[in-house]
Amino acid sequence: MAQVVLKNLKKSFGTVDVIKGVDLTIEDGEFVVFVGPSGCGKSTLLRMIAGLEDISSGTLSINGQVVNDLQPKDRKIAMVFQSYAIFPHMTVRENVAFGLTIAGASKAEKDAKVNEAARILQMEHLMERRPSQLSGGQRQRVAIGRAIVREPSVFLFDEPLSNLDAALRMDMRMEIGKLHHDLSATMVYVTHDQVEAMTLADKIVVLRSGSVMQIGSPMDLYHNPANLFVAGFLGAPSMNFLDVTITEMDDTGCTVRNGALDPVRIPSLPKGDTAAKVGDTVKLGLRPQYLIPSIDPASGTLHGKVILTERLGSETVVDLALTDGTKLIVALPEDAQFERGREVSLSFGPARAHLFTPDPELQASAKH
Ligand SMILES: Nc1ncnc2c1ncn2[C@@H]1O[C@H](COP(=O)(O)OP(=O)(O)OP(=O)(O)O)[C@@H](O)[C@H]1O
Ligand SMILES: [Mg+2]
Repeated sequence: MAQVVLKNLKKSFGTVDVIKGVDLTIEDGEFVVFVGPSGCGKSTLLRMIAGLEDISSGTLSINGQVVNDLQPKDRKIAMVFQSYAIFPHMTVRENVAFGLTIAGASKAEKDAKVNEAARILQMEHLMERRPSQLSGGQRQRVAIGRAIVREPSVFLFDEPLSNLDAALRMDMRMEIGKLHHDLSATMVYVTHDQVEAMTLADKIVVLRSGSVMQIGSPMDLYHNPANLFVAGFLGAPSMNFLDVTITEMDDTGCTVRNGALDPVRIPSLPKGDTAAKVGDTVKLGLRPQYLIPSIDPASGTLHGKVILTERLGSETVVDLALTDGTKLIVALPEDAQFERGREVSLSFGPARAHLFTPDPELQASAKH
């Protein structure tokens, strides 16, 4: 069991700063997920915890002991990669036992630990097969089994499910959640997949260009994103962002409007790196699930026209063009009826809306 603490952790490859000072406490038994766009440093940070990547500065501690210079094998950490890295010429049993064999464990110890891992992962019937006789999900279980038998204090997973198809990914996601529950182990998990992040994590760390944008429980990040980046990253379909002008503002909130939005008071202030004032253009964030469309033109504060209705079964997603030309997405339960071309107005609870100061970097990337 282990608590892992990162203090101002930095990593540079030559002159390129890849991890720019990360502070994070991973509590004993916690499931922490790193998310963020490709290249933001998720794998690098995980590899620094594993000891596979040198730390340029800052400290990494496990159970209060600084381990910056400790060899990977001495950290009591096991890592599971996206590519399973299992040996094709060995049986499943030999693959799972591999680390124990290298460490010179007795046959009795190997048998006991391997059988226990097989039981936990429900692969007792697969133990004498070779990897070529397994499905992708079963191979990934072998890789996880190999980590389990080492009885690590911390499990690290780097996108372990991204090579699997959607159905298998869901099964394995549940298995990893169950494994965490059964072993009560500390786990750090990297993924691109926000559903994996939301469902597995006790705590999500959102990374961007080597810096932490926000740390919190899944629902905390969902309901209280600290900036435009986090708001746009979590939630499906993504949050809508409208450019609006602040017409009034006090300590408790502000009134905003634009060409398609009647003045509405939002009981919060714009969040983000910079301060905002009356007259500024900010982003109004509205989750697709919190918009209520109506064909009565007087019933809402936002006005637009239906462009497309997409039926997903459990949800119907309606694309709208607002009267100022902005696109907006609304997510409705099951088979709501809104035919193409229909004029609608939309209402929303102001307390469920978010305001953010603009993010120049995000706007630059959105144009490309
Ligand atoms: N050995 C290296 N030398 C130089 N730059 C590197 C090295 N390893 C990684 N990088 C750079 O560090 C940055 C972070 O890489 P990293 O692999 O941690 O990203 P990631 O968040 O895991 O991305 P992905 O989601 O695509 O796996 C990238 O810009 C990458 O090009
Ligand atoms: Mg990676």
